[in-house]
Amino acid sequence: MSETPSSGEVNNATQNAGPTGTSATSSDEQLSSLQKQEESYVPSAEVKARAHVADFDALYEKSIADPQAFWAEQAQGLEWFSPWHEVMQWQAAPPQVKWFLNAQFNITVNALDRHVKHGRRNKVALLWVGEPGGGQDGATTAPERALTYGQLLRRVNQCANVLKGLGVQQGDRVTLYMGLTPELPIAMLACARIGAIHSVVYGGFSAPALRSRIEDSQSKVVICTDIGYRRGKRINLKGAVDEAVEGLESVEKVLVYRRDPATTLNSDLEIDFETALDAESAECEPARLDSETPLFFLYTSGTTGKPKGVVHVHGGYAVGTSYTHKICFDYHEDDIYWCTADPGWITGHSYVVYGPLINGATVLLAEGALDFPDAGRWWSVIEKYGVNIFYSTPTAIRALMRFGEEYPAKYDLSSLKVMGTVGEPINPEAWLWYHKNIGHEKTPIVDTWWQTETGQFMIATVPSYPTKPGSPGKPLPGIEADVADKEGHPVEPGKGGFLVIKKPWPAMMRTIYKDPERYEKYWNTIPGLYSAGDVATKDEEGYIRVMGRADDVMNVSGYRIGTAEVESALVSHAAVAEAAVIGKPDPVKGENIKAFVILRQGNEPSEQLMTSLKQQVREELGPIAIPGEIEFVGSLPKTRSGKIMRRVLKAKELGVEPGDISTLED
Ligand code: WT7
Repeated sequence: MSETPSSGEVNNATQNAGPTGTSATSSDEQLSSLQKQEESYVPSAEVKARAHVADFDALYEKSIADPQAFWAEQAQGLEWFSPWHEVMQWQAAPPQVKWFLNAQFNITVNALDRHVKHGRRNKVALLWVGEPGGGQDGATTAPERALTYGQLLRRVNQCANVLKGLGVQQGDRVTLYMGLTPELPIAMLACARIGAIHSVVYGGFSAPALRSRIEDSQSKVVICTDIGYRRGKRINLKGAVDEAVEGLESVEKVLVYRRDPATTLNSDLEIDFETALDAESAECEPARLDSETPLFFLYTSGTTGKPKGVVHVHGGYAVGTSYTHKICFDYHEDDIYWCTADPGWITGHSYVVYGPLINGATVLLAEGALDFPDAGRWWSVIEKYGVNIFYSTPTAIRALMRFGEEYPAKYDLSSLKVMGTVGEPINPEAWLWYHKNIGHEKTPIVDTWWQTETGQFMIATVPSYPTKPGSPGKPLPGIEADVADKEGHPVEPGKGGFLVIKKPWPAMMRTIYKDPERYEKYWNTIPGLYSAGDVATKDEEGYIRVMGRADDVMNVSGYRIGTAEVESALVSHAAVAEAAVIGKPDPVKGENIKAFVILRQGNEPSEQLMTSLKQQVREELGPIAIPGEIEFVGSLPKTRSGKIMRRVLKAKELGVEPGDISTLED
């Protein structure tokens, strides 16, 4: 293990850490790796001194010798109404897991009541900063709000009482379509308080995408914000909700949190959020729930067009998220913690809301874009609030890198103790920029690999452990992960294979809502193992490096978008006969969506049509899914059975060998 090299020495960094460094791979292809041996960065004595995990390797060994005892020990730190009879029960076929069996639990007791009771009543739980100028015409400063744990609990209880009053019961679904203000965590926690299931839909999704998610979950109530602010513009969230709930029978009420008093409530379906909460008691007994009670659904992209509702539960999820939040960020009592993710994604659920609040953290929430009013916005937030732990994405780092190092240089970033990254492989160039310009070559960078389905961090190097740029590191204590071939045998170091998890972990998804077969697929693609859908390598020292997705799922700005979703949006355009979509390497976004489109007879390619197709995708799915490039083609490569071979399109696009094309139609 080398000493910390200066940034100039790290020039043998892999050239291939990007998510698309390889062409699309299929299980029948030989996966090989171009990765080079990497320098590692060793943490300083100061970092080691404050670490929760002093000897990672020893803790790992212990955890793997008896994972159930290990996770039970972590669970002891939480508050349970009544204890479990058995730590974990696993059935292989059909796959089914349960953690902390027969225990009674409520995640909100752990995120709120416990703190209020034990000395954190007046500690700030949520520190919110709005977009500069947001909410006040002509203003240039950013609005701010702080809610203590005591205040947050009262507001959550009031919201829970509102939901009860609307007839929402345990097991009922509530869809949340909200901007980033404290009302979003309040609404999530209020559902959890009474055992209702929240389904947060990211505010960047369009009305039809929102509608299909409300429909799939059969939500009784929708909670929304009227508007959000982004780059000085107002985002009309309520407009999308009005359109989405039109004629949907399941939806009985829409609660509207109004940031603009001028927003009108136009039907008897709608209720004002603030007025309704103010009228309620600030006490609400938490429901005593079985630990396996569903906490939320979160829709994520898969290989088919329809998004899947990943189901997470109260007990195990609380244990997995709080434990990993603590050890991976070395979270300490006085730390100001900031994760830039929107709560609409899993990162926001696990590491903005639940994990940090269970640990009693002060969580910063910042609305708006990273470059508004200028590219120093985030660094100014770190300086102003003295942020100690900062968690973001490679795509954001790359975007900020482009604006130049003079922006971070203007601010005092010395409060930072740990920095994190997630969502896609971080390329060495971005890693080094982050390390140098934000971390001033001393703040550890923790790269966390996990998924919507895993619920919690799975692979990461804790701050006290040597890290290798571009690799999330090693499986965390309690987690057995490996790189395997399609039969499940571990591959040799340096060889490519599939990223697999061998044993259940507490925060793993319990099923896919109304689609148990899709759930089973995770466990029977490679028999007996959980298959993450990523291709990866492992080096001699056990560091795992993720090369990208093995399936037809793109990673755009760290978020998964299914090729099939975009294709079906394109085909819904009157001029389109057929479409195929691939992800192309992009220096900022990781992958950029490229669409190949066959037009229906009577339509001619034109700029205008291209714009109209992009508009179609925007309307169907939202701006994140808009293809950056559209090419009109006469035919598409297909297998003899008629499946589009995106792999072939992609290889051609990138100028590489397409791999096995024996199934290609002549
Ligand atoms: C997929 C999961 C988990 C939060 C955000 C995305 C990729 C995630 C890393 C990382 C390399 C990563 C994988 C994974 N991914 N983190 N640190 N290094 N790749 O959640 O939408 O469920 O996507 O994101 O491909 O399978 P998600």
